[in-house]
Amino acid sequence: MDVFRKKDLAVLTAHTSPLKRSLKTMDLTLLGIGEIIGTGIFVLTGKAALTAGPSIIISFIVAAICCGFAGLCYGEFASFAPISGSAYTYSYLAFGEIIAFVIGWDLILEYALGASAVAVGWSGYFVSLLHSFGINIPASLASAAGTTPGVTSYFNLPAFLLIIILTFVIAQGINQTKRINDIMVFVKIGVILLFIVSTFWAIKSYNWKPFAPYGWYSVTHGVKTGILPGASIVFFSFIGFDAVSSSAEETINPSKTLPRGIMFSLVIATVLYVIMTLIMTGVVKYTAFKDYLNDPVIAVLRVTGQTWLSVIVSIGAILGMTTVTLVSLYGQTRISYSMGRDGLFPKFFGDVDKKRQVPVKGTWFFGIITALVAGLINLNVLSEMVNIGTLVAFILVSAGIIWMRKKHPEIHRGFKVPGVPYVPIVSIIFCFALILGLNWETWIRFIVWFAIGMAIYLVYGKHHSKMEKHN
Ligand code: ALA
Repeated sequence: MDVFRKKDLAVLTAHTSPLKRSLKTMDLTLLGIGEIIGTGIFVLTGKAALTAGPSIIISFIVAAICCGFAGLCYGEFASFAPISGSAYTYSYLAFGEIIAFVIGWDLILEYALGASAVAVGWSGYFVSLLHSFGINIPASLASAAGTTPGVTSYFNLPAFLLIIILTFVIAQGINQTKRINDIMVFVKIGVILLFIVSTFWAIKSYNWKPFAPYGWYSVTHGVKTGILPGASIVFFSFIGFDAVSSSAEETINPSKTLPRGIMFSLVIATVLYVIMTLIMTGVVKYTAFKDYLNDPVIAVLRVTGQTWLSVIVSIGAILGMTTVTLVSLYGQTRISYSMGRDGLFPKFFGDVDKKRQVPVKGTWFFGIITALVAGLINLNVLSEMVNIGTLVAFILVSAGIIWMRKKHPEIHRGFKVPGVPYVPIVSIIFCFALILGLNWETWIRFIVWFAIGMAIYLVYGKHHSKMEKHN
């Protein structure tokens, strides 16, 4: 029994998909932005600014370079293997089944846990927006148990309900998902632009001094600080461009549109982040973010005195995080669909509802688990787990490009990463550096998650794999 058995590209691409093909470059770019801009910029920048100081701008650039290089590698894979499943499917082609399973398992961290993390960030803004209208959600039901010092809390009910509602939307079909996503993305970008033009005049350059109070890397009171740990936090802000590749089977002319959708959405997000971070650290002294960890953007509006804008920005943030949660949940259903179809997960994950052309059972399975996790676990733990899972996937996709170029130079590629092997190697080095910046507890949690995945593969996946039956 060969656990390194590989899929054949010709067989994979010959397969006809029961999913509906309707997405174009513009849709994919919007899907990408829908997934990228969210909790990272609206919530985690507060913690990142405390970690790196004003040099958080460099942290963003480091994370953007890492994602840009990995994004090129995703683009090349998507151009010659435009099949649902993203990094999971690419690893099946390049490295074989056991690595593919590990990556599919790892992507649950990125998509399902990512949806939970963003829903928790969403809940913070939602609860304070309702509060500004005089509606108070009891603190005990507004966050997970033990996450707010001095407050007895049990469950994050708003985050839980958000995921249940979005799962319902996804279960209705891709067109509904796309339409809702597009509207919210336009509102989100509009609000960010409004924030930028309304606040940039208040930048005071003295707030940028000292620029890098903790240098590249240091440990302050037992906590990792500096530009690199800051980059490990804000890396979360860029996650999502790869979800574009998971919609390969619903895309028209995927070998061209997928790489474009990935790169366009990444570039737009990076430009907006850099401008927003310059404003945030230029208007507010970075140390002041300690009082605004749930809504750091609002700190800027307090300083500029534009409290009227807070409600609009909060609504933009809420919609922004809604799309991220939506697309993360969507990405998860497409990965579990691919794994169910291949026999590595139970078959019902691969069952597609004929009328709606959606893997409805898998959608609800992960929707309910994701909602419960959002209700029970805090944002820091969730976001670091999402980061480590995604970084490992990026490393394998980058290594996969070097491997596929060497082993299969004959394959026609609609898009090619320039400077192979150097670009993928730089991507891998950046990913390792960002993993180093994460807390050691996260590494241990990841190893435990990895071990559980291995056990499931050896006990279930290996024996039920479609490739096993073909042998
Ligand atoms: N990039 C996504 C966010 O920042 C996950 O919310």
